[in-house]
Amino acid sequence: MKVLVLGTSGQVGDALMRASWPADTTLTGLARPALDMADPASIDRAMAEHAPDLVINATAYTAVDKAENDREAAFAINRDGPARLAALCAARGVPLVHISTDYVFDGSKPAPYTEDDPVDPVNVYGASKEAGESAVRAAVAAHVILRTSWVYAAHGANFVKTMLRLGRERPELGVVADQTGAPTAAADIADAIIAIAARIQSRPDDVPWGTYHLTGSGETTWFGFAERIFQRLEREEGRRPALKPIATAAYPTPARRPANSRLDCGRLRAAFGITPPAWEDSLERVLDALFADASATSAKTP
Ligand SMILES: NC(=O)c1ccc[n+]([C@@H]2O[C@H](COP(=O)([O-])OP(=O)(O)OC[C@H]3O[C@@H](n4cnc5c(N)ncnc54)[C@H](OP(=O)(O)O)[C@@H]3O)[C@@H](O)[C@H]2O)c1
Repeated sequence: MKVLVLGTSGQVGDALMRASWPADTTLTGLARPALDMADPASIDRAMAEHAPDLVINATAYTAVDKAENDREAAFAINRDGPARLAALCAARGVPLVHISTDYVFDGSKPAPYTEDDPVDPVNVYGASKEAGESAVRAAVAAHVILRTSWVYAAHGANFVKTMLRLGRERPELGVVADQTGAPTAAADIADAIIAIAARIQSRPDDVPWGTYHLTGSGETTWFGFAERIFQRLEREEGRRPALKPIATAAYPTPARRPANSRLDCGRLRAAFGITPPAWEDSLERVLDALFADASATSAKTP
């Protein structure tokens, strides 16, 4: 199976390239400048040159706050690029795995969101991702759209790495405690996609195509997420900042965020037998890698 991964410089794209694929998989990865999702000709070229059996789109305009004043670019990358890609996949009979977000919801539901709940994004990024999902659904029947949340990895920029940096710099830190969701390790998304690819390969006529939720198991708040990161920082380095719970209202950002980001992952479990690890366990694995890196770096410093 020839698998083409788009967006290999990002957290999920990188995790897909590092993950353990079956021996009969030929994995090709593309990133900018070779692939530009804002340039239709570049998408056409990638599909023609690589003639994949499966495409995974891990690209996205992910700068949530910046998107508020950069609507055109966000929609070009998150809607128009995926629309073009999906049309090419349909024309070539190639299935598409596309990644989306909890930010398609407004966060007002008092329970985890299911795939059938109505979407109602509260920011430009969410609206552009929602439009991308719709475009993929309209263009290619053979699609799996995976909505995920609060993604982090040892590679890339994310909350875990920001907290570690701030936790080493500051004696005290306020973190939002009234947004609920599930941290998701990029490696767990990669593993789930490998399982989905195996199903596509082994039973191509019997794939439950559609939209699914995929997050770490369990739930927390950004405050709870930070607390867990700092417990580990204290164990490793004997220091941690005093952590203060704050309200979203006390930390204004250009883009609004949904208060409830919890996604019900039951449909994915039922259709593909995938249950991602508890978020706390995946976090420890990523922290293992980050602290191993930190000690390797300090061992090299004279
Ligand atoms: N991060 C989160 O917390 C989160 C939460 C929910 C859902 N998601 C979704 O998960 C998926 C993966 O996100 P991630 O966390 O891996 O994001 P990321 O680390 O920000 O990576 C985004 C990737 O998209 C690429 N990209 C951006 N614009 C592009 C363009 N015009 N052409 C080609 N590539 C382009 C980036 O390349 P450059 O390095 O060149 O910029 C990078 O490789 C996305 O669909 C995202 O919407 C993420």
